[in-house]
Amino acid sequence: MKGKVVLITGGANGIGKAIATDFAKAGASVIIADIDGEAGTQTAVSLQESTDARVTAVQTDIANLENVQSSVAQVIEEYGRIDILINNAGWDRFGLFLQTQPEFWDKVIDINYKGLLNMCYVVLPHMIEQKGGAMVNIASDAGRAGSMGESVYAGCKAAVIAFSKTMAREHARDNIRVNVVAPGITNTAIFNAFDDTSLGGKVAQAMKNSVPLGRRAAEPNEISPAVLFLASDEANYITGQVLSVSGGLTMVD
Ligand SMILES: NC(=O)c1ccc[n+]([C@@H]2O[C@H](COP(=O)([O-])OP(=O)(O)OC[C@H]3O[C@@H](n4cnc5c(N)ncnc54)[C@H](O)[C@@H]3O)[C@@H](O)[C@H]2O)c1
Repeated sequence: MKGKVVLITGGANGIGKAIATDFAKAGASVIIADIDGEAGTQTAVSLQESTDARVTAVQTDIANLENVQSSVAQVIEEYGRIDILINNAGWDRFGLFLQTQPEFWDKVIDINYKGLLNMCYVVLPHMIEQKGGAMVNIASDAGRAGSMGESVYAGCKAAVIAFSKTMAREHARDNIRVNVVAPGITNTAIFNAFDDTSLGGKVAQAMKNSVPLGRRAAEPNEISPAVLFLASDEANYITGQVLSVSGGLTMVD
C-alpha cells in the first residue's frame, strides 16, 4: 500500500477505525472522513504516532453533497489524488418498520445510501482522471438476507450492493474496481445500540447464537483484512463482488 492515498468514511470508530489501522500499518496515506471530527482527529493522531503512515482527518458529513465536495477538494489539494475509496460510514437504530417514522427513514437513507452516492459522485471523476482506482463499499448481510428490526437500513444496504455492481460495470473501462464487504454482526456502536430496546437485545442475542463460527459477534479487526485485500493490487481481477464476513451467519450465493 506504500504510496497509495486512501479515503475512509466513518474511519473514526468501529470497523472504519480498524480499516484505517490496517491501511496505515500497510504504509498507505490515510484520510479519515467522519462526521465526528473530534474522534476522527483522535484516531488520526494515534495512528500517526503508532505507524509510519501519514494519517489525517477531514470532518465530513457524507449526507451533505456540498460538504463532501469541499472535503474531497481539500484532500486533492493536499495529496494530489485518491487511489482508494472505502465507503464505510453508516448509521441505524433498531425498530420494527411499522413503529418507525418517515423522518427516521430519511436519516437512514441519507447516511447509508445517499451518503455513498455523494462520495462516489465526487471521487469517481478524480479516479477516472488518474486512470484507475479501487473502491470497497461496506454493506451488510442485512442487505443480502434481511434483518429483523433493520428494514430501511437493510433496504439501503441492498441498494449499496446493486449500485456497487453497477459502478463496477460502468467504470471497469476506467480501470476502477468496485467491490463490497458485507459484515455480519460486529462489536461496534451500531450493533451494541440494539440493546437499547428489549426486543432489540433479544434479536441481537439470537443473532449471536446463530453464528456458526463461535456464536459471537465479530471484532472490527476481523472485518478489515477483507477490505484491505479487495482494495489491494492482489485483487486486480476482482470487481463487482460481495464478500460476507460474518462467521457464516448467512451463506448466500
Ligand atoms: N456493527 C455491525 O454489526 C455492522 C454490521 C453490518 C454492517 N455494518 C456496517 O459497517 C459500517 C461501519 O459501522 P460500525 O459498525 O463501525 O459503526 P460505528 O457507529 O462504530 O461507526 C460508524 C462511523 O460512521 C460515522 N458516521 C455516521 N454518520 C456519518 C456521516 N453522516 N458522515 C460521516 N461519517 C458518519 C460515525 O461517526 C462513526 O465514526 C457501516 O456501514 C455499517 O452499516 C456494521
